Amino acid sequence: MVNIAIFASGGGSNALAICTYFENHPNIKVSVIITNKPNAGVIGVASKFNIPSYIIGKKNMEDGSLIAILENNKIDFVILAGFLLLIPTMFVRQFENRILNIHPSLLPAYGGYGMYGHFVHEAVYKNKEKISGMTIHLVNEKYDEGRIIFQAECALDVHDKPEQIAEKVLKLEHKYYSQTIENYINSFVS
Ligand code: GRF
Repeated sequence: MVNIAIFASGGGSNALAICTYFENHPNIKVSVIITNKPNAGVIGVASKFNIPSYIIGKKNMEDGSLIAILENNKIDFVILAGFLLLIPTMFVRQFENRILNIHPSLLPAYGGYGMYGHFVHEAVYKNKEKISGMTIHLVNEKYDEGRIIFQAECALDVHDKPEQIAEKVLKLEHKYYSQTIENYINSFVS
């Protein structure tokens, strides 16, 4: 069995889609959920699926205690789903090529420091883009710069406000993230 950990800071709709997809999966299991926000929606997802969850702080990312949680739970891959803390270098090295992130734009456009959540969709809106989309990529020491694994795009309508853009992109995320995780893990372990 390949064990994965989901890291999320927010609403947790991607975490919900991933847990649903991998429930009863033959070789991939969501074994741990990590959040840095005590009131994050993802804690509810963890209890719905009976998955142990841990609330951590920035300090735990650097002092080895988060790594210890992952080691105790034999975690093979880390899946970031709206996790807002920077992943420290030591952590990236330990899980080299085994951390995936999802970003709500067509990277390299609208990526980098400060480009997350609604800031991305507002910038896309202001620039009157005709398409947007999402990117799944490996995580390295810099925000949003690891190797791209998968992208999907959506057409934007002239009337789409940032909220509608966000909705369209989130739909793509729910549709493709789990499948991409599965394909990546299976190609990696086979
Ligand atoms: C998603 O748009 C994802 O691309 C970004 O954070 C958002 C998380 O949404 N990294 P949710 O918490 O999964 O609903």
